Amino acid sequence: MQAQDPRPLVAGNWKMNGLLSSLEEVDKLAAGIANGARPACDVMLCPPAPLLLAMRERIGEAAIAVGAQDCHMQDSGAHTGDVSAALIADLGCTAVIVGHSERRTDHGETDAMVLAKALSAHRAELTAIVCVGETEAERDAGKALEIVGHQVASSVPDGVTAANLVVAYEPVWAIGTGRTPTAEEIGEVHSFIRRQLMDRFSDGEQFRLLYGGSVKPANAAELMAVSNVDGALVGGASLKAEDFLGILAAYR
Ligand code: 13P
Repeated sequence: MQAQDPRPLVAGNWKMNGLLSSLEEVDKLAAGIANGARPACDVMLCPPAPLLLAMRERIGEAAIAVGAQDCHMQDSGAHTGDVSAALIADLGCTAVIVGHSERRTDHGETDAMVLAKALSAHRAELTAIVCVGETEAERDAGKALEIVGHQVASSVPDGVTAANLVVAYEPVWAIGTGRTPTAEEIGEVHSFIRRQLMDRFSDGEQFRLLYGGSVKPANAAELMAVSNVDGALVGGASLKAEDFLGILAAYR
């Protein structure tokens, strides 16, 4: 990827963490970005759904987008406890993560469900951040590319563009473990996903491919320098502004 590289995106996934009081971290993050530390990437936070509106309002004009962590595949209806993409968009959010491995595991989400959720996101004009990634057993069995290739093929809908779809490669065994693949292993998977998207979409070169799994200030620069890595999906290290700013520093 040369001069035409997509603008990177660093998104923080708070998962089921954070309270109203945690929005102090958003103030610190906004201040850090404003104080000359503005990175050459898009910045996003994805808090639990009940915090979306308060976070959006708290951010004000700061250059931080807000995304949700999941949406229902239907636009509205009798689905107690679920959140529609339309409501997420109505709150001022611009994106939604779909198919995170924790949802695939905890809620039995299949590729077909993830694809339907991405379509729902697009009907609401949200960007869908589609997560894929192999388990440790799958990697050990030499099946990482096969698994990821199948997930991308089956979870990414036809007709999407680089403007409304982001792929996040999150090896399950690297999430929350402090372990990361080598730069070579990440590069192999990302270039494989890139080729797959280029085969399928005319703007496949422009899709943002995020890496996620134990990204921290100490390893961000190295991981973000890998070819075809266009940003990060960050869990634990997005909860504290200081850590998240340390990761964003990879793009200054
Ligand atoms: P950690 O950064 O905590 O490993 O989580 C990664 C992740 O799952 C982000 O969606």
